[in-house]
Amino acid sequence: MKPNATGAGRHQILRSLAAAFVVAFVATGAAFAGTRERLSLDAGWLFHLGDVAPPAVKGHGMSYGSAKAGSAGGAAATDYDDSDWRRLALPHDWVVEGPFDPGENASQGYRPRGIGWYRRYLGVPASERGRHIELQFDAIATLSQVWVNGIVVNRNWSGYNGRNIDITPYLRYGEDVNTIAVRVDADAQEGWWYEGAGIYRHAWLVKRDAVHIATDGVHADPVRQGERWALPVSVDVESSAKAAHDAEVEVSLLDPAGREVAKGRAPVHVDGLDAATARVELAVGKPALWTLQQPALYHVRCVLRDGHGELDRVEVQTGFRTLRFDADRGFFLNGQALKLQGVAIHQDHAGVGVAVPESIWEFRLRQLKAMGVNAVRFAHNAPAAEVLDLADRLGLLVMDENRNFNPSPDYMQQLTWLVRRDRNHPSVILWSIFNEEPLQGSEVGYEMARRMVAEVKKLDTTRPVTAAMHDGLFGDVNVTQAVDVAGFNYQPWAYDRFHKLHPAQPLTSTEDTSAYMTRGAYDSDREHHVLDSYDDEPSEWGATHRKAWRAIAERPFVAGSFVWTGLDYRGEPTPFEWPSASSFFGAMDLCAFPKMAFWIHQAHWVKDRLVLKLVPHWNWAGREGKPIRVMVATNAPRVRLLLDGQPVGEADVDPIDMVTFQVPYAPGRLEAVALRDGKELGRDAVETSGAAARLVLTPDRAALAGDGLDAVPVTVSAVDAQGRPVATANLPVHFEIEGAGGIIGVGNGDPNSHEADKGNDRSLFNGLAQVIVQSRRAGQGPLTLRATSPGVQGAVVVVDVKAVAPPPAVPAAEPFSRIGGWRIAPAQAERPDPGMAPSYGDMNTWGWGEPPMKQEPETPPWRVYRASFGVRADRNDGRGRLLFREIAGRAQVWVDGVKLGEKTDPAPGPLTLALPKGAAWRTLNVLVQSQPGQPSGLVGRVVVEPAR
Ligand code: GAL
Repeated sequence: MKPNATGAGRHQILRSLAAAFVVAFVATGAAFAGTRERLSLDAGWLFHLGDVAPPAVKGHGMSYGSAKAGSAGGAAATDYDDSDWRRLALPHDWVVEGPFDPGENASQGYRPRGIGWYRRYLGVPASERGRHIELQFDAIATLSQVWVNGIVVNRNWSGYNGRNIDITPYLRYGEDVNTIAVRVDADAQEGWWYEGAGIYRHAWLVKRDAVHIATDGVHADPVRQGERWALPVSVDVESSAKAAHDAEVEVSLLDPAGREVAKGRAPVHVDGLDAATARVELAVGKPALWTLQQPALYHVRCVLRDGHGELDRVEVQTGFRTLRFDADRGFFLNGQALKLQGVAIHQDHAGVGVAVPESIWEFRLRQLKAMGVNAVRFAHNAPAAEVLDLADRLGLLVMDENRNFNPSPDYMQQLTWLVRRDRNHPSVILWSIFNEEPLQGSEVGYEMARRMVAEVKKLDTTRPVTAAMHDGLFGDVNVTQAVDVAGFNYQPWAYDRFHKLHPAQPLTSTEDTSAYMTRGAYDSDREHHVLDSYDDEPSEWGATHRKAWRAIAERPFVAGSFVWTGLDYRGEPTPFEWPSASSFFGAMDLCAFPKMAFWIHQAHWVKDRLVLKLVPHWNWAGREGKPIRVMVATNAPRVRLLLDGQPVGEADVDPIDMVTFQVPYAPGRLEAVALRDGKELGRDAVETSGAAARLVLTPDRAALAGDGLDAVPVTVSAVDAQGRPVATANLPVHFEIEGAGGIIGVGNGDPNSHEADKGNDRSLFNGLAQVIVQSRRAGQGPLTLRATSPGVQGAVVVVDVKAVAPPPAVPAAEPFSRIGGWRIAPAQAERPDPGMAPSYGDMNTWGWGEPPMKQEPETPPWRVYRASFGVRADRNDGRGRLLFREIAGRAQVWVDGVKLGEKTDPAPGPLTLALPKGAAWRTLNVLVQSQPGQPSGLVGRVVVEPAR
């Protein structure tokens, strides 16, 4: 801690030092450590599936009491008994744990949603008094309310935005423990896709000095000025201090190697409970550019200091790049035309639902990058913050989309939250205010959009705004007139017409394709909800992958494509319904295993290496002599096919449509040879296999960090006795794991599967399944995964869990049953009736209080202190104790009319009484008798403790 860090004294000292401030600052330099702590609040939650109705409010006393701050009822109450709730760690999606049910919503994946409650206890040391303490939830699906110590502190109406809640004023310190309660209503839905439910992203506790940099308060977005760059940085400083404060912000720019390359300072004056902004503009010479191939990342470090040292510091990522949408020539990155080879994706993954670990996100994005994707649209909502960090790091462009089309204040806040959080990311190139809104072609839609665009522009002028429209483009008044870039969902027929009518307005596809494919399937079988992989199953409103891309590729004025979708997602099992439970649109399945669409786009998009993929597999027993359709995806101009070395076909490749052959089936090895000018560029092969003989486990990475967060997908496959992959294997597989981690989910990419995502069993689907394993916090050593299946040889793989410093976290606290809500009788001359209570409706004759309740020396000498309290089951077993930390005077304690004990020594001191088993709700009367001339009362806390 800094010297003189708290209290008014500090400000007096500051005022007297004001003149010497700069000198003092220079003299002390950066010798003080920053005080910010960002602590994970993921561990230690209690969960209850289902609603907990608060008790009906009846009668004057209850009505009056429940209307007061801190008096929330039911599971929001501080003393609610949650002793039988499930203990778990966030992120948590309860929907993915549930069963499939044809009565539930197809769009959400046929699983029950419902209502759930979370509670957590939080201890804050007394030494933290005066600091600013913020509770952060990265997202909660769907509607949620948050209480701290029975006071409602947040209501949120979207499952996709984070919220940063200043809980400083409500906190209790020291021995007392705080209660956080969260009610989540996931019956409310915001989408027509799987949304999951619960606190499915991370939670944090951020502790800062009272004078600190606001959350998402740093804005740094480089601007090119000819050959040089300017980096305007604004830093929002806010204060929960009691007095005004003078400080200084120092901003430094660190290059990718961590060297400081520019620095500037600005003073800032912030009043107590107010905010102020410091602005610094850095000049930067020749920075390394952020490109898709080499996404050079710089860091902007902002340090807030006063004359005593560092108050706070924040570091944000930035990248030097320019972007531009041109009406004739599409998108430009760093001055060069770049076609957007984009995909839209939702956020759920096999096994884990929407509670996706960052490392699994990295895996998903790497898979997309391997496909040749350079842009991602997170449909139709904000992604998790760490996903954008990954996009920055991996070199992916992002269309960042707002969920709700609504400029009213609550909803506008969702939009401004998104822009404030994401505007430093070099990956973000385009804001999207909505997807497919029926009002898009109307005056109302235009007026709503105009307001939302204006709010975005107040926060960021460097990126254009779009809206993903599926109609209304040509209305007299429509949303294209309010946005910078016209966004087309489908409607490829309209590209030329719009461009002709609005030659100065850039346009992009914001969504296209919507074609179906089942991974590893090569015959459509609609009866069984299977769709083949030859890219000949478009939706009625979409087009095949090849046709959609052709319409975009051939038009330079269309900035790019966003294929619906890069990855399958649960829900929206179009064109089917039950029993299909997840989508067929993905270029990859729910596990991110490639379908043929992956290879087709890879052939379209990858230019710097050979792409060559041959399908189908070559296990067609029973179809001998019959033609099998063979498709080759390649960026080579010509392909020759060989069956067991004999030519069976050769043809030029259309760079968009690819090439197909009919090859009469005979078991053997089918090879595709990529050719250019008669020269061989490479080969791909499929080979007829025997029956599955052995399982194979292939982890995506060989090691995990032992932080309890890192996770790796392990591919499960089968090979025959000769070691050839069996692409048609559908074996049931059982998993066992031991060591420094566990299984967090399983999947196989079959959209029709109803096998559980959680647990230790999963079948292969067309030759593949996936197990996701995660390290344990403070884990170290081998993590051994075993796979077995009847009749075949099992497999074992060992992932090495490496010791790492555990990420800073708030330890879970145990509930603290403090008795509060005391009424205090007026002083009495005689020993009062032990059952004495205020008269019905009298809220004024008796006082109200919380310990310390200390009466100055007084006569008459008697007072009654009365409280009602709930006894948790774990304290109501006859072994619980009622503890009075300090009573001044003599005292008699009565619970529900029965005398529990007394304190005969009038000197201030504690009293401990056994609490007999009894009703869950009790009434306590304490009769205190003061000594002449001495203070009296319940001075210390009154607590119910479990047996130790
Ligand atoms: C679009 C919509 C997407 C998805 C897709 C399926 O109209 O924006 O969310 O529903 O259709 O084809």
